[in-house]
Amino acid sequence: MDHFLYRDGVLCAEDVPLTEIAASVGTPFYVYSTATLTRHFKLFEEALAGMDHLVCFAIKSNSNLAVLKTLGELGAGMDVVSGGEYRRAKAAGVPGERIVFSGVGKTREEIHLALTGGIRQFNVESEPELRVISEVASELGVEAPIAIRVNPDVDAKTHEKIATGKSENKFGIPIAKARAVYAEAAALPGIKVMGVDVHIGSQLTDLAPFEAAFLKVRELTEQLRADGHEIVRLDLGGGLGIPYERSNSAPPLPIEYGEVIRRTVGDLGCEIEIEPGRLISGNAGILVTSVIYLKQGEGRDFLIVDAAMNDLVRPSMYGAHHDIVPVVEPAPGTEAAAFDIVGPVCETGDTFAKGRALTPVGPGDLIAFRSAGAYGAVMSSEYNSRPLIPEVLVNGDQFAVIRARPSFEEMLGRDTIPEWL
Ligand code: LLP
Repeated sequence: MDHFLYRDGVLCAEDVPLTEIAASVGTPFYVYSTATLTRHFKLFEEALAGMDHLVCFAIKSNSNLAVLKTLGELGAGMDVVSGGEYRRAKAAGVPGERIVFSGVGKTREEIHLALTGGIRQFNVESEPELRVISEVASELGVEAPIAIRVNPDVDAKTHEKIATGKSENKFGIPIAKARAVYAEAAALPGIKVMGVDVHIGSQLTDLAPFEAAFLKVRELTEQLRADGHEIVRLDLGGGLGIPYERSNSAPPLPIEYGEVIRRTVGDLGCEIEIEPGRLISGNAGILVTSVIYLKQGEGRDFLIVDAAMNDLVRPSMYGAHHDIVPVVEPAPGTEAAAFDIVGPVCETGDTFAKGRALTPVGPGDLIAFRSAGAYGAVMSSEYNSRPLIPEVLVNGDQFAVIRARPSFEEMLGRDTIPEWL
């Protein structure tokens, strides 16, 4: 459920008509709903109620400081994968003890930054990384809390580009090798083993792969305890999917996901961490764009809009589906027609949808891409020298621009021409 509903025939973000935001900031733009972010975060809180836990928002899905502050103030932890994301979490007021650091290629500088700024735990992805963390912590005279990310060799049954739990993927340490790596970790200076970490992929629409992975984590935890390690935390990653196509998809609910956690690892006496991104931010955001032209092609009609693949890359990168709706509700009885909805970028891949049924709209009309709050703005670029589009946050009847559209002067001003030219 989200808070983008039609009122008096106009799609609103909470209590604000999107036409009003469009008139104020211009199109295209992203808009996020505070109520939806809050609701989705609380669904995970409820799903894990009764278990000692921390819900760490995966910043990679939406890293705007206002979004992070909204969630941080509700008590969320943060899952970061770079020094930049770590800085964002801190800038949003989240204390180090609520930040976990994931990612396969943490640099010495990033490890130093987190150890000096405060960190809940590093999720270690390889032996070389473990040794570097040990070195940096020893130099600083501190202990680095760690969990080791294990690769359980479980098929997440999702898009291959976002599946991470199979042995051929670059992520984690093969679970069969884990005991040896924990033994090394326990013997290294500056390392404090806290737990086990797993993350098998994103946009999972079936609970069975989670269950299989968590059972493997359970078995490993028991073995590690028998080996003498104190395992007090389990980080179970993120990955719960959302209904991108409302008419025909109903992925499992957070409460059902919580039941899987309870059933598989709930009795181990460990603090549970999860790292959801998409389920919190995905349906909390939409992208609003204007139609520039309606172009009649050979046997198909193209709706050329002012957003493009550089603003929302998911359709061209993963063939992802986003529901597309008119901002002004069509008159009852208006018949839908089929359109190819495309952006202005000079690539055939700049196609949001093919043959999509939409009630006819014309130049200047607004349409909205739903479920664009996760992996939308964060994956955007200035390809074709198109300025990054603004982000807007709504809360009840108020809205604020939380990232402004850059001016062309700002964009061009970032380049420098060497003196020899
Ligand atoms: N934790 C780790 C270690 C991750 O790698 C990810 C996502 C998450 C948590 C959050 O997963 P979520 O709950 O959002 O599924 N750009 C792609 C998604 C990439 C996901 C990468 N890792 C997309 O647009 O579908």
